[in-house]
Amino acid sequence: GRVLVTGADGSRTELAVRSGARLMPSLKAAELGVLGLCGGNAACGTCHVYVDAPWHDRLPAPDADEADMLDDLDSRRIDSRLACQLRFTEQLDGLGLTVAPHL
Ligand code: FES
Repeated sequence: GRVLVTGADGSRTELAVRSGARLMPSLKAAELGVLGLCGGNAACGTCHVYVDAPWHDRLPAPDADEADMLDDLDSRRIDSRLACQLRFTEQLDGLGLTVAPHL
């Protein structure tokens, strides 16, 4: 399916993501500002993204590890998620994300 990403530099990119895959590796490979430094363990915050409306409400709620990491991010917003904890499904085709600023 498709994920529409606004990069840290404001660029817009459409990514193809397999159903069942986590979003972080695709974002990292596309070099849009997602670093994924902890390898997807909800421990670094460098895969922080903002989920565009109306998609944010359609995602499963963060687990405790993701919620704890998000709490530590200065750039956190109500629509923040960690891309390494988001699994793509076909119901999310067209999902819009914005790469959050990283410190
Ligand atoms: Fe480190 Fe997601 S890759 S928190």
